[in-house]
Amino acid sequence: MSAVSRILVLGGGRSSEHEVSLASSSSVAEGLRTAGYEVRSVVIGRDAVWRDEAGDELSLTPGRGIPEIDVVFPVLHGPFGEDGTIQGLLETIDVPYVGAGVLASALCMDKVVFKDLMAQAGIPQVNYGAVTVARWREHPQAVLRELEALRLPVFVKPARLGSSVGIARVAEASALRAALDDAFRYDPMVIVEAAATGIEVECSVLGNGDPIASMPGEILLAGGESGWYDYEAKYTPGGMQLMVPARISQSAQERVRELAVEAFVRSGCAGLARADFFVDGESVLVNELNTLPGFTATSVYGALFAASGLPYPELLSRLVTLAVERHEFERAHSF
Ligand SMILES: Nc1ncnc2c1ncn2[C@@H]1O[C@H](COP(=O)(O)OP(=O)(O)O)[C@@H](O)[C@H]1O
Ligand SMILES: [Mg+2]
Repeated sequence: MSAVSRILVLGGGRSSEHEVSLASSSSVAEGLRTAGYEVRSVVIGRDAVWRDEAGDELSLTPGRGIPEIDVVFPVLHGPFGEDGTIQGLLETIDVPYVGAGVLASALCMDKVVFKDLMAQAGIPQVNYGAVTVARWREHPQAVLRELEALRLPVFVKPARLGSSVGIARVAEASALRAALDDAFRYDPMVIVEAAATGIEVECSVLGNGDPIASMPGEILLAGGESGWYDYEAKYTPGGMQLMVPARISQSAQERVRELAVEAFVRSGCAGLARADFFVDGESVLVNELNTLPGFTATSVYGALFAASGLPYPELLSRLVTLAVERHEFERAHSF
């Protein structure tokens, strides 16, 4: 290991995924210790305050880094954690950190911006339409008419959330209005997507400029109550199972890995991301990139690399090294 030995793990956060993040961040801290690092943990409260292990509030000085810390490992999900805001703060403090920078974090969090970017890159995905709250209030009939082109069923989603919160699958035209109203409770921008067929496949990506992709895994839903990967399936123990490798053809597996890397590079991601897909036969569609996916030792991100021959502590160690490399690379430019 290089001179880098002291890691600050950031967990918790202001979003509804606070508890999920605490589970991920304690796994990460433990894995880093196994890998030989000295680890300190800071929990960000739902009240946004940062507290150390003793419960004392942290004070940070822009440009001064974090005393006695070489690298920060944010393990935060959703708004104010995965969306570029914390990343901007860490840039301002001037400390290397694991994962995507400001722009890639923000754009992967915004389903409309992400899909527009993928469309421009010619990356296959479902058809979709974006609706602003202003347009919905002023011209609801016109909006509903335009969305007819997507055909039912559709998925209605707040543009910038996670964990399936605020998402509805709409199979009847009469239910579309209420689904839009509901999604607008969470975000002034809503995306409506044609429903993809097939199974859900996920692929982990690791690297900076020249990333690698794990073996693809398949998400098996236990209850199948709603038929899709809703909040319940995500957070009920046993709600989902990961099958590695995914039961898809060799060529579809290769396509998943190739598109995972392409989406990662096109979004300007760094360090890590989990790329999620819909696969039906040979049809492979990108759903989304998660720049800070669930990160316990058994979460999909780590499990896919473990199955690909990279154990969890080594994976964490690689991420720390990538953080330092990216920090040095960025600082080498004139600005
Ligand atoms: N266009 C779609 N077609 C089919 N299923 C979808 C579609 N969009 C979302 N889903 C289902 O909803 C889940 C959550 O949607 P996703 O866009 O991944 O939101 P989140 O960011 O909350 O994870 C997906 O894992 C999938 O089960
Ligand atoms: Mg998802």
